[in-house]
Amino acid sequence: MKSFNIAAYISGSGSNLKCVIENSLKGVISSKVWLVIADNDAPGLEYPSSLGISTAVVSRKSLSRNEFLDLQFTLLKKHNIDLIILAGYLKKLPEEIIQLYKGRILNIHPALLPKFGGKGMHGINVHRAVIEAGEEFSGPTVHFVDEVYDNGELLLQRKIKVTENETPESLQKRVLDIEHKIYTEAIKILEEREQ
Ligand code: GAR
Repeated sequence: MKSFNIAAYISGSGSNLKCVIENSLKGVISSKVWLVIADNDAPGLEYPSSLGISTAVVSRKSLSRNEFLDLQFTLLKKHNIDLIILAGYLKKLPEEIIQLYKGRILNIHPALLPKFGGKGMHGINVHRAVIEAGEEFSGPTVHFVDEVYDNGELLLQRKIKVTENETPESLQKRVLDIEHKIYTEAIKILEEREQ
């Protein structure tokens, strides 16, 4: 069974990341999160940092493009990272990182891709769009990341029925509950694939 050294990228509350870390600590997956990078002072940095996991805020704002890239490469190398997971990261990863880690970057998205993906489609916007379109089903997707937003090969998807009185908020909560399980499952699939 392959065990990955994971780096997670986040922008917000980091609840998906927290579940992956908890499942790693419980031994559900053998991979471990060694590094968390955020594009802002995200609340989701608190939990990994309380466990002694390395965290860093790497923002394009205060750095030149080269400094921004160098800092990430240095951190990824320092921790021997061989799997990147995007967990509510709302920026686009630099192409240089996407190329170096091709086939080794996952993203979780709160809708059934290829529907309801693309720029601006994140968080509650996604669930609002699903309901406005009158979709019968929704659910989270874990996919590989390539150079185009929400475009890479699908790895795992779970479908739920949109109920009659569904609101964007109720759908978001139901989908997030499933996200908390399937991100770990997706990592496990990769571990088993690469034994
Ligand atoms: C999750 O619902 C994730 O699917 C979504 O952001 C949320 C992050 O929650 N990602 C996207 O919409 C990406 N397009 P979390 O910070 O609590 O894990």
